[in-house]
Amino acid sequence: MSRLAVDLARALDPVQLASGIGMDPDPWQAEVLRTDHPRLLLNCCRQSGKSTTSAVKATHVAVYEPGSLTLLLSPSLRQSQEVFRKVTAVYRSLGRPVPSESENALSLTLENGSRIVSLPGTEGTIRSFSAVRLLVVDEASRVPDETIAAVRPMLAVSGGQLVALSTPWGRRGWWFEAWENGGAVWKRVRVPASECPRISPTFLAEERAALGEWFYRQEYDCAFAETSAQLFTEEHLRAMYDARVRPLFPTGA
Ligand SMILES: Nc1ncnc2c1ncn2[C@@H]1O[C@H](COP(=O)(O)OP(=O)(O)O)[C@@H](O)[C@H]1O
Ligand SMILES: [Mg+2]
Repeated sequence: MSRLAVDLARALDPVQLASGIGMDPDPWQAEVLRTDHPRLLLNCCRQSGKSTTSAVKATHVAVYEPGSLTLLLSPSLRQSQEVFRKVTAVYRSLGRPVPSESENALSLTLENGSRIVSLPGTEGTIRSFSAVRLLVVDEASRVPDETIAAVRPMLAVSGGQLVALSTPWGRRGWWFEAWENGGAVWKRVRVPASECPRISPTFLAEERAALGEWFYRQEYDCAFAETSAQLFTEEHLRAMYDARVRPLFPTGA
C-alpha cells in the first residue's frame, strides 16, 4: 500500500492506526476506538488495556481532526504522567504522522493545531479548558465527583465525547452511579479478566488466593463491592438503621 493509502486507512479507522504500532486490539478495544457514541462507560479489569486504548484513541483524534482538543483525566499526577507516556509512545512509534509544535511531560501540541493534555483530577487549572472534542477519564472510579462536574460543561458546546474507563472502587462516586443508575444515555462495556486474552487462568487463580475473594472480584471481575474502607457491608449498615428499632438514647427529647 502507498503511504497515502495507509494514511487514509488509518484516518478512517483507528484500528488501522493501532496496527501501525503493532497492536492487535481486543474486540472491546476496537469498539472503543471506533465508536463515536457520546457517553461511554468501560468497566474493565486491571491490566486489560484501558490506558493503552485511551492513548491510541487520543492520538487518532489529534492526528486526524486538526484543531481538536483531547483531555485525559486521571486521579493523580503520577497516573496522568503514566497515561501520557503511553500517548507519546504511540505518537512516536507511528513516526510522528503530524509534526509536533511542543512535547512535554503532560501535553502534546501538533502543527495541525490539535492538542492532547493529560491532567490529574485534583488540578485547579482544569476549569480553564473549553470546547473539548474528547474527554477520556482513566481510573474513573477514583476521579472525584467535583472534578467531573467541573469538566462536563466543556463537552456541551463542542458536542464532545466522554469515555470513562475504570476498575470498580466500591459502590459510590459518579462513575458507579452512572453505571448503576445513569440510564440509557450511557453505553456500557464490561470486560472481566476471564475475557482478556493476555491474562491466564493460572495467574487469576494465584491472584484469587493472594487477594481474597473481595479484592479479586473488584479487581478482576468488574464487581462493585462495598468500599474497602467500609468495615460493615451495606446490608449490615441498613440493618443498623432499621426504623423499627427504638434508639436507646433518643436525642432532642
Ligand atoms: N490489544 C493488546 N495487545 C497486546 N498487548 C496489549 C493490548 N492491550 C493492552 N496491552 C498491554 O497490556 C498491558 C496493560 O495495558 P494497560 O493499558 O496499562 O492496562 P490498564 O490501564 O487496563 O491497566 C500493557 O503492557 C499493554 O501494552
Ligand atoms: Mg491504566
